[in-house]
Amino acid sequence: MSSPPTVLLIGNLVHTNEEWKSLSSKYTLLEFRKGTREQFLENCRNGTYAAVSGCYRSNVSTAITGPFDRELVAALPQSWKFIAHNGAGYDNIDVAACSDRKIAVSSTPVAVDDATADVGIFLMLGALRYAHEPLIALRQGRWKGRVQLGHDPRGKSLGILGMGGIGRAMADRARSFGMNIIYHNRRQLNPSLEKGAKYVSFDELLAQSDVLSLNLALNESTRHIISAPELAKTKMGVVIVNTARGALINEADLVAALESEHVSAVGLDVFENEPEIHPGLVKNDRAFLLPHLGTTTVETQREMELLVLRNLQAVIDEGKILTLVGEQKGLDWVPKEADL
Ligand SMILES: *[C@@H]1O[C@H](CO)[C@@H](O)[C@H](O)[C@H]1NC(C)=O
Ligand SMILES: *[C@@H]1O[C@H](CO)[C@@H](O)[C@H](O)[C@H]1NC(C)=O
Ligand SMILES: *[C@@H]1O[C@H](CO)[C@@H](O)[C@H](O)[C@H]1NC(C)=O
Repeated sequence: MSSPPTVLLIGNLVHTNEEWKSLSSKYTLLEFRKGTREQFLENCRNGTYAAVSGCYRSNVSTAITGPFDRELVAALPQSWKFIAHNGAGYDNIDVAACSDRKIAVSSTPVAVDDATADVGIFLMLGALRYAHEPLIALRQGRWKGRVQLGHDPRGKSLGILGMGGIGRAMADRARSFGMNIIYHNRRQLNPSLEKGAKYVSFDELLAQSDVLSLNLALNESTRHIISAPELAKTKMGVVIVNTARGALINEADLVAALESEHVSAVGLDVFENEPEIHPGLVKNDRAFLLPHLGTTTVETQREMELLVLRNLQAVIDEGKILTLVGEQKGLDWVPKEADL
């Protein structure tokens, strides 16, 4: 009898410990819930992980092992064939390095769409209403504080940069506020996914949006996709919402545009150097800010953990993957994609 496949958990599970344990009926389970990058690399070198065919990479694993950069990927044993990552963003994994090693990478899109879009709308409304100052004033016993008249979303154009699952969930919600939806994306979507949203060029998106929402992945080509030159092309008084990744925006340029009032307000859940935040944002009462809470709901966190486990089992049991990362789609060595 051949020995069962070995799977490694890196980091912690919160909502699916029972489901994880039950996998021991068919796999050998290893865990690296706590530790350092050095210990992890040592385990790779000294044979502890010699039989590992893949890992569950939890949302806190970067804090433990550091990024899965080229150095770390090179240290993984030959047996390692997949990384099932918990998170919609995976900029902390060097996918090109994984592809060079023929290691498949899955992430957790879909599961995060609703919760992230909910926060996007929350931030948009908070920014449109300049909600920061009255929220603080009330707690300080100043009642409304220095009220600034806000704006209604109705009749405004919401420009969505990145019309994937989250962007489309954002559009679905914004329609019910009477907003006109325009978007820019790698490619135009088919009409059933567009649902009336208008596809425009990047420059048109900048020029026409009353609210600009960032809903795209961070990678080398999208880093600082919104910097001073792009901000200069936006409408006077534009509102900018970011629930994706902080480094999509040059934060210093954004602060300058906010201070000049070219950008009238921002709603941000993500920052360029988390957990540090540009002091110009912290002190600006037209900045409505959250500390990266996009997916932090019980239901969504559990869905994300379950999706990682489903990816693991699909790869091992059926040689298929459910949510392969975009960069690896179509490569000839990757497991076949299966429907969710
Ligand atoms: C491998 O290194 C780790 C971390 O130093 C250690 O805990 C473990 O006992 C070592 N295993 C072997 C087989 O040497
Ligand atoms: C980066 O992401 C963008 C938008 O999602 C995509 O169009 C592009 O192909 C990606 N680039 C790289 C180098 O992966
Ligand atoms: C990671 O996920 C767990 C639940 O699955 C959650 O409690 C925790 O807040 C998450 N951490 C981050 C940094 O998102």
